[in-house]
Amino acid sequence: MKKRYIRHASELVTCRGKAPKFGKEMADIGLIRDGGVLIHGDKIVETGTTEELDQKINMEEYEVLDASGKTVLPGFVDSHTHFIFGEYRADEFSWRLKGDSYMSIMERGGGINATVIPTRNASEEELKEAGRDRLNRMLEFGVTTVEGKSGYGMDCDTELKQLRVMKKLDEEHPVDIVRTFLGPHSVLPQWKGKEREFLDEMIRNVMPKVREEDLAEFADIFTEQGVFNIEDSEYYLTKAKEMGFKLKIHADEMYPLGGAQLAARVGAVSADHLLKASDEGIRQMKESGVISTLLPATAFCLKEEYAPGRKMIDEGCAVAIASDLNPGSCFTNSIPLLIALGCIYMNMSVEEVITALTINGAAAVDRADRIGSIEPGKQADMVFLKYPSIYYLPYHTGINLVETVIKKGETVYHKEWI
Ligand code: NIG
Ligand code: FE
Repeated sequence: MKKRYIRHASELVTCRGKAPKFGKEMADIGLIRDGGVLIHGDKIVETGTTEELDQKINMEEYEVLDASGKTVLPGFVDSHTHFIFGEYRADEFSWRLKGDSYMSIMERGGGINATVIPTRNASEEELKEAGRDRLNRMLEFGVTTVEGKSGYGMDCDTELKQLRVMKKLDEEHPVDIVRTFLGPHSVLPQWKGKEREFLDEMIRNVMPKVREEDLAEFADIFTEQGVFNIEDSEYYLTKAKEMGFKLKIHADEMYPLGGAQLAARVGAVSADHLLKASDEGIRQMKESGVISTLLPATAFCLKEEYAPGRKMIDEGCAVAIASDLNPGSCFTNSIPLLIALGCIYMNMSVEEVITALTINGAAAVDRADRIGSIEPGKQADMVFLKYPSIYYLPYHTGINLVETVIKKGETVYHKEWI
């Protein structure tokens, strides 16, 4: 078994813990100066100061990685994306710049529905090729686990095709992929006014196949005014839970419909977006342990007000941050952008943003027991930054500082700065 010893990390950010961090706990990132990590195979076996670890081991058994002058962090977990899709929608972005809104574009046939035909027409190989390229771009930003949703088919064949593509990519690419079924992503014109029938079609004819082939662990829905209402969403999520899916919800993005409360009621793992979450919704997410997943790059691209991240943390919630990478509302997987928006516009500290992108991201995909922190027993997923302190993350604004990515103990990405 390969043994590696990371030594002399200027700052080792452990984020230790096997559960989400709530409220004030989010500021505690378990930082060790002049830190070291021992890796056996794909697992972390020990952390401490370099001095402590030097005394514990026989150095000759180890491949030593010198991290002096670097910050070492857990690999980032991007817990909300739609990265498998056919064709782009750059035109919509330009219309929005001229004043169109996301929902008005959607109402006249653009938006999510405009991605359906190209995704239905794309071959599995084409989707896989584009997906692989996007995973490579994520890895460069230090993302070691990503969640990916279906939802651009809204018919059986295409939904299964998107999920199968992600399953295959997961087997062959270093980035781990957590798959989510999002059949109810929008309402196609033929289903307008018949939303319940569409959901029944998904529940009876599509979701059992998803379970049989083990294609998705989570089920999600776009609960929004003009899309799926609270009653229909609750019906779908309850059925999905009975079928063994864990739950996520696109909640309270444009209107305060009560998606956060619904997430609490049905026992969702996370509620996502939450730009318009009410005080009561925030209270209920905290009480029921729902992860509040914030997607600030979407708010940025749509020129919407940011989710009340500061308030959520002050109220005791567990906040995660994710990219929402998709071809419409937010075509970016930039981790530095998320860090900048989290710190500057959501008034979160650097420590809280790191927690939101690591252990709380892991909790949002129900993997806080395995990933999201650097501590004994966890998968050896970590990133080295070019600079010696976490404070460079928001300070060197918008710049990717990731130098090395280690996935399951192996170096899978390294950048030479010239
Ligand atoms: O999370 N809000 C719904 N779904 C996506 C948008 C997908 C798209 O525009 O294609 C989101 O922002
Ligand atoms: Fe989304």
